[in-house]
Amino acid sequence: MTQPVLFIRDLRAYFTTERGIVESIDGVTFDIHRGETLAIVGDSGSGKSVTSLSIMELLPRRLGRVAGCEITFTGRDTLFGRNPPICGRCAATRWL
Ligand SMILES: Nc1ncnc2c1ncn2[C@@H]1O[C@H](COP(=O)(O)OP(=O)(O)OP(=O)(O)O)[C@@H](O)[C@H]1O
Ligand SMILES: [Mg+2]
Repeated sequence: MTQPVLFIRDLRAYFTTERGIVESIDGVTFDIHRGETLAIVGDSGSGKSVTSLSIMELLPRRLGRVAGCEITFTGRDTLFGRNPPICGRCAATRWL
């Protein structure tokens, strides 16, 4: 099996609210290989946007936190500033 373009393991995100910490997504796991398309579907509030924003490091830090997961983009660890974040344009034009 070839290396996936996008590798997501156990993605979790939390929001800090007036009523405490809210767990938004818990353990999202998937791979996308070159040439594949993945559609994320679900009820309103099920976590589609938070999943996507977390992967691209676009979740506003003042609102939410990503924790305890592994994300690699073309084999490089992208989370928490270890490599440049995934840019939608470069993802679309260079890799997918
Ligand atoms: N700003 C926020 N503050 C607190 N909790 C939030 C916030 N944004 C999202 N959440 C939590 O994350 C969950 C997932 O929200 P998300 O916006 O990802 O859902 P969605 O699947 O994109 O919904 P929709 O189909 O309506 O766009 C929500 O149910 C809520 O519990
Ligand atoms: Mg949404």
